[in-house]
Amino acid sequence: MTGSANQGTEILRIRRSPALHGVCSVPGDKSISHRALLFGALCRGTVEIRGLGLGGDNISTAVALRALGVPIQMSGTTASVEGRGFSGLREAQAELDCGNSGTTMRLFSGLLAGRPFKTTLTGDPSLSRRPMGRVAKPLRLMGAHIEGRSDAARPEGLLPPLTITGGNLHGIAYVLPVASAQLKSALVLAGLQASGKTCIDEPGLSRDHTERMLRFLGAPISADPRSRRVVVDPAGWNGELRATAVDVPGDLSSAAFLLVAAAVVPGSDVTVEHVGLNPTRTGVLDALRAMAANIEVMQTGEAMGEPVGRVRVRWAGPLQAARIDGDLALRAIDEIPALAVACALAEGRSEFGDVGELRVKESDRIASVARELARAGIEVEQSSTGFSIVGSGGLPPKGGRVSPERDHRIAMAGAVLGMLSDGETLVPSEDIATSFPTFAEILQGLGASLKHDVLL
Ligand code: S3P
Repeated sequence: MTGSANQGTEILRIRRSPALHGVCSVPGDKSISHRALLFGALCRGTVEIRGLGLGGDNISTAVALRALGVPIQMSGTTASVEGRGFSGLREAQAELDCGNSGTTMRLFSGLLAGRPFKTTLTGDPSLSRRPMGRVAKPLRLMGAHIEGRSDAARPEGLLPPLTITGGNLHGIAYVLPVASAQLKSALVLAGLQASGKTCIDEPGLSRDHTERMLRFLGAPISADPRSRRVVVDPAGWNGELRATAVDVPGDLSSAAFLLVAAAVVPGSDVTVEHVGLNPTRTGVLDALRAMAANIEVMQTGEAMGEPVGRVRVRWAGPLQAARIDGDLALRAIDEIPALAVACALAEGRSEFGDVGELRVKESDRIASVARELARAGIEVEQSSTGFSIVGSGGLPPKGGRVSPERDHRIAMAGAVLGMLSDGETLVPSEDIATSFPTFAEILQGLGASLKHDVLL
């Protein structure tokens, strides 16, 4: 975000937006892109991926796989991964830099827990503050050796960098302390390399892309969304995943910013096409519906067991306040910053509950949302696991300078709030490329008043 003094800081300058109009698509789903690259590397043969997300997080996964000896050719949003199976992975010659990507660090922890060599995983300052004890604990129980920095804030805590010496794993039965797809996926990847069965129980159903894609590729995994139990049983499996072409749908988490913008900017009518509609991810659509947004969802197909479709939002007057907690909050966990903007402009007091996990995302997102809304003149109250917002009922918040603290979703939420605010809003923009490099261009295409600049 902030370069050296002579490079300046890349920013977006945003003014109140005229109505947004148009049909667009968004880059490939970040979660699915990570898995397509990683699971592609575990197949035997060449896996062609179309529609790959090219955000910084996905690039971190591709670069880390290359460092483990996996040839990956990329051309635009198409990638060709030469999968060589688990046993084709080679010890990296240097530390693997996971950048800002928690998904890369946690999924690679599970993968490398099963490999008979030593690997160190590092990350940027934001990732270096994120809890890794949740993944190290069960992987150690399975037999992996994992070292990291101790975490003064948590008794069982562990922080990056992580050094993993893997191999000789055995299956376990484990109840996850939090609903987390990263943690669940790490244990699945370790379980596929273990002797015996691994049984994972989740307190809530987190996104299930790993289960869907691995089943599609022929892995010995069963998942029951009702009981929230995943079982990996490699007995009798030849250890191979089938190489097939993979289509990545657009990222609903990116689309969420456009959909919220269309729901709050008067007169808007925006359609996002070919976007992932996995029910573990569609909480944002349900929440917007509950707020009286005019939203139409149409499933148009399927890609690798994932529903895909089109979402249209038409502005329909001021939104109503909502309560977003429990399963709904879990199914919208990455969209809470976008939904907070919707609530900031709605009529009435909105309550967000059961979102304590937001405190350990790319930033403490409860604190970040509260800080940015307060800066804009919106009343917010925080608790340890939630927050409430008193909406302005459509009255314009104050423009100003957003401080996203290197968190892409806080930067994008600040930008959408700026589209309704009085005066100019400045958003440091470099980190938006973590998940949505074309954010500004797509909004400009829909008619938003926003332009790139560099602050010296
Ligand atoms: C992700 C899982 C979620 C989500 C993150 C991506 C994934 O994190 O917030 O952006 O791709 O598995 P947790 O596993 O920590 O809930």
